[in-house]
Amino acid sequence: MDKQSIFLKAKGKVKNCRICNDCNGVACRGEIPGLGGKDSGDSFIRNRTMIKKIKLNMDVLTMSSPISTECHIFNEKFSIPVFVAPIASVAQNYGCELSDYEYNKMVIEACKEFGVMSFTGDGIDIEKHFNGPLKAIDENDGHGIVTMKPWVNEGIDARAKLLKDKKFKMLAMDVDSAGLPLLSGNDILVETKDLAGLRYVKNKTNQKLIIKGVMSVPAALDALEAKADAIVVSNHGGRVLDDTLAPIEVLSNISSVVKGKMTILVDGGIRNGNDIFKCLALGADGVLIGRPCALATIGDGKQGLYDLLSEYKKELIQAMKMTGCHKITDISRSCITITK
Ligand SMILES: Cc1cc2nc3c(=O)[nH]c(=O)nc-3n(C[C@H](O)[C@H](O)[C@H](O)COP(=O)(O)O)c2cc1C
Repeated sequence: MDKQSIFLKAKGKVKNCRICNDCNGVACRGEIPGLGGKDSGDSFIRNRTMIKKIKLNMDVLTMSSPISTECHIFNEKFSIPVFVAPIASVAQNYGCELSDYEYNKMVIEACKEFGVMSFTGDGIDIEKHFNGPLKAIDENDGHGIVTMKPWVNEGIDARAKLLKDKKFKMLAMDVDSAGLPLLSGNDILVETKDLAGLRYVKNKTNQKLIIKGVMSVPAALDALEAKADAIVVSNHGGRVLDDTLAPIEVLSNISSVVKGKMTILVDGGIRNGNDIFKCLALGADGVLIGRPCALATIGDGKQGLYDLLSEYKKELIQAMKMTGCHKITDISRSCITITK
């Protein structure tokens, strides 16, 4: 099934998404709650625009041997280097009727079957937005990564208690949510975290930690110093600050400093196998994909997401075939050209 047919299954089930051919942030500019980027929406739009400027260097004069997209991330085998990104408050943002527990249950089941992994999200209502999704991971043998927002310490403590005795792979914190419009009003619930703040989370939860929302070399070095296991180079899909650079633009600088010392993931505007390829060529170990995965899941549940992941795999194989790459580790900077 082609991807647009997969997405169109969500028609009538989502009030806030226009199901565009290219999910690029133009039609939904500024729509939060909703699917847009913050204010003018330019950060989301730039995420997509800048990925499109990277081109693949064709090279088909290579031996014709099988192509494998398999790889290992966090000591787990992945059939493609893809994670489903955390998406919280699906009912409010998509205008659909699923609870975050129901949504994440379908996502986790599809990921488990396909051989990838997902992150859950977090929000104001600790039961609906954090504990429900955590339960969905726990019920699936811990096959998932729990994400916590950068709450002030009371919020972290309350969530750390819920993590006890639950099965999950790792903990992530989306530090960039300090700028999320719905959480950072006068009544401060979230805050920016410095090194001491990151260490507090690590000590309180005693978990392997992924810092999501790193957009600079100094921030990546701080994450490393706080003994984080991974970073996600991300601007939260353009939802926390207008007029930012796109993650794909800062990826290679960050990777040149921390590659090999921690796992590097990236997200924002990744929509197909070519985009996954481009991120790997610029130094990422894997990518997160948000809005399209959510739409496929809302449209056709576990099957919808499974079908979409299958399309990404086919596209990635095609990109690898046409650039002379037979395995994921063959993908390198020399496989792409960045155009103006
Ligand atoms: C509706 C919506 C809800 C989101 N909720 C969360 C969340 O709870 N935690 C988080 O770390 N990121 C959250 N994100 C950001 C995504 O995880 C991801 O960084 C971003 O959407 C990636 O860009 P893409 O959607 O263009 O692929 C959310 C994004 C959207 C659109």
